[in-house]
Amino acid sequence: MTTVLDAVREFAPAKINLFLHVGDKRADGYHALESLVVFAAAGDVLTFAGADELSLSVDGPFSDALSGDPDNLVTRAARALAAQTGTSKGARIALTKNLPVASGIGGGSADAAAALRGLARLWDLTVKSDDLRKIGETLGSDIPVCIDCATAWMEGRGEAVTPLSEMPPVPMVLVNPGVGVPTGKVFAALKERRGVGHSRPPLITNAAGLVAYLNTAANDLEAPARTIAPVVGEVLDALANRPGALLTRMSGSGATCFSLFESADAAAGAAAILRRNQPGWWVADTTMAPRPV
Ligand code: C5P
Repeated sequence: MTTVLDAVREFAPAKINLFLHVGDKRADGYHALESLVVFAAAGDVLTFAGADELSLSVDGPFSDALSGDPDNLVTRAARALAAQTGTSKGARIALTKNLPVASGIGGGSADAAAALRGLARLWDLTVKSDDLRKIGETLGSDIPVCIDCATAWMEGRGEAVTPLSEMPPVPMVLVNPGVGVPTGKVFAALKERRGVGHSRPPLITNAAGLVAYLNTAANDLEAPARTIAPVVGEVLDALANRPGALLTRMSGSGATCFSLFESADAAAGAAAILRRNQPGWWVADTTMAPRPV
């Protein structure tokens, strides 16, 4: 008789760069970054069940975008974890892809991080979060911050993560116009950089405090992303013009943009109007979320 392991479930929330400053280009070709990162209540879902081999199935609204890539970040993360820990176990992984792909909110990175967490549980491995961050770092700069999915200060090329106090759950709307902007192209089009060395946030207890802090910063990648994909400017304007929008900005290298809202009702109202006016855009009415359970 074979033992049937319980399925393990992991949530892979959207990663939001509340600001992102770019510093000098480093010897390794990457730019130094500085960013305040939070996570949203919206995200992908992964389940893991015991199996002899490793397999991945994908469903959900954005599954088509991954169908041509059998070697995606989730399976690469799974293989890296197995190699690092010497396990020969397999897993049947199911990914529900709710987030748009390659869109500045770290969907692939969050999925890979969730795979590392989920498989560590399924395979009963004694690995620490720090070990998972190190494995994740070899696969992508944004994966380490997605291991804990908690508010963090991000530096280096993105891999250096310092946890910060949790933020209040400010309502937020995410919008993606369905246009891909490759990260490398956005960095290549970058003309003005604010540089690194910005002060870290004070203890933030409410939306007003957060917005006041964020108004001292920006996303340096917004201008080059707008030149590559002018629709980013349309998204930013459409969000900023909604009643109750407190702060509107692009996340990561785009094209997803976010607005923070003064209330959940204002966020819901804005999302409803945006969905009606732009049926081709992906609109998520969500909130900044504390670490998922
Ligand atoms: O990390 P990722 O592979 O997504 O980066 C894609 C490209 O974006 C890199 O090859 C590099 O050109 C640029 N990049 C950068 N500095 C960073 C992150 C990315 O210049 N910190």
